[in-house]
Amino acid sequence: MGEKEKYGLLPSFLDFSQDSKMKNFPFLEEIITTLVVNLSHSPVFLKRKGKLYPVKLLSAEQSLALQGPGCSSLGVGAFSENGPFRPSGKALIRNEYSWNREANMLYLETPIGVGFSYSNDTSSSLSVNDKITGMDNLVFLHKWFVKFPQYRNRSLFITGESYAGHYIPQLAELMIQFNKKEKLFNLKGIALGNPVLEFATDFNSRAEYFWSHGLISDPAYKLFTSTCNYSRYVSEYYRGSVSQTCSKVMSLITKETSRFVDNYDVTLDVCISSVLSQSKILNPQQVTAETVDVCVEDETGSYLNRRDVQNALHARLVGVNKWLVCSNILDYELLDVEIPTISLVGKITKAGIPVLVYSGDQDSVIPLTGSRTLVQGLAQELGLKTSVPYRVWFAGMQVGGWTQVYGDILSFATIRGASHEAPFSQPERSLVLFQAFIEGRPLPEAF
Ligand SMILES: *[C@@H]1O[C@H](CO)[C@@H](O)[C@H](O)[C@H]1NC(C)=O
Ligand SMILES: *[C@@H]1O[C@H](CO)[C@@H](O)[C@H](O)[C@H]1NC(C)=O
Ligand SMILES: *[C@@H]1O[C@H](CO)[C@@H](O)[C@H](O)[C@H]1NC(C)=O
Repeated sequence: MGEKEKYGLLPSFLDFSQDSKMKNFPFLEEIITTLVVNLSHSPVFLKRKGKLYPVKLLSAEQSLALQGPGCSSLGVGAFSENGPFRPSGKALIRNEYSWNREANMLYLETPIGVGFSYSNDTSSSLSVNDKITGMDNLVFLHKWFVKFPQYRNRSLFITGESYAGHYIPQLAELMIQFNKKEKLFNLKGIALGNPVLEFATDFNSRAEYFWSHGLISDPAYKLFTSTCNYSRYVSEYYRGSVSQTCSKVMSLITKETSRFVDNYDVTLDVCISSVLSQSKILNPQQVTAETVDVCVEDETGSYLNRRDVQNALHARLVGVNKWLVCSNILDYELLDVEIPTISLVGKITKAGIPVLVYSGDQDSVIPLTGSRTLVQGLAQELGLKTSVPYRVWFAGMQVGGWTQVYGDILSFATIRGASHEAPFSQPERSLVLFQAFIEGRPLPEAF
């Protein structure tokens, strides 16, 4: 496999069991115990069978690309979405819908340069792309299973969201290939949340989403679908040559939608202090009737930038002076967003591995409509017949969303009222979806 020694001694795996520094951090100790005992999150988790295991290490590698590649799985996934704790002021508060109630979660910061991840190998570059990231992820997991063989026979699932629509199918494909030589990865399913699978379909569903949710006017919608659509704009933008036409259309769209709307959840309030981060004048008033803490990302940033927290985590800041939710040192090949991964999803299902594509239905960035179209199209192409017809599913005696399953292997589901980072705004519904996914059964039909 031509392993590079990029990950060195697996910096993310540290033994905290005898660590005196941890004494002042009962919460942190617990999170680490959980992450390690229950390997943690977003792209990767190992299914727990029976009891907890004596714990040794902390994981931290992977990324779920929030605004694109390069965002932190630890910061977003573990601390804002489906981990056992969320930062709140100076404390951590418990998330009762943590996914590690169901599985051992392993959160991966990838590629190197994301979050606290770094490389001591001076030959490794921060210029990366999908291909390099996929290989690095494979090498990482390979080494991880070599180092912790006790987890080898567990069912392995990979989940993630957003740009993980690239990372996960690409990694899964490499694992399937690897398994042909040596059966190492007991891959049992992948779940992709609001994923980028085919950028034109995904990006261009934004116009209708904006329009149907009242975020843009009729004339703006017309321009955004005929004069310059979003995939064209992004394509021009990433090539550094935005046309006059697209520039005008995008200014209008941006003006109408307003920066005070969170594109990742068009119904949720915004974190005013983030939106106004340049302005010191307005004192943010964040205490609202909302049950969702829309400032959790800022709070995660403050928490993970505390010296005592960093020391306790044995985190080193290499090449950066603070922890950032999305890396600003990574030089990611942005044009890779145009690589369609929906065909890989087809290959993965053909290899007998179940795939779930789910959509937080309040997200305008990768709207449910694009994902639904892509999944439906793939099912048709593969000749997969509907095994669960489009219907509602339930969580907590309410409609959790809608779902459809094809050939008992390819599933689509929405999570009602959820954002791009679904477990952040709909933790209970997301946990129900997660449970059904790892148990390999359809979403609850009744309550
Ligand atoms: C990287 O180098 C630093 C300083 O020499 C060392 O403390 C750290 O353990 C090294 N990390 C890895 C993963 O080898
Ligand atoms: C995993 O399962 C195989 C086949 O049942 C067995 O030979 C092997 O010892 C198991 N490995 C571990 C680490 O439990
Ligand atoms: C988006 O724009 C491109 C370039 O003008 C065009 O080829 C494509 O068909 C458009 N897509 C949609 C969905 O309108």
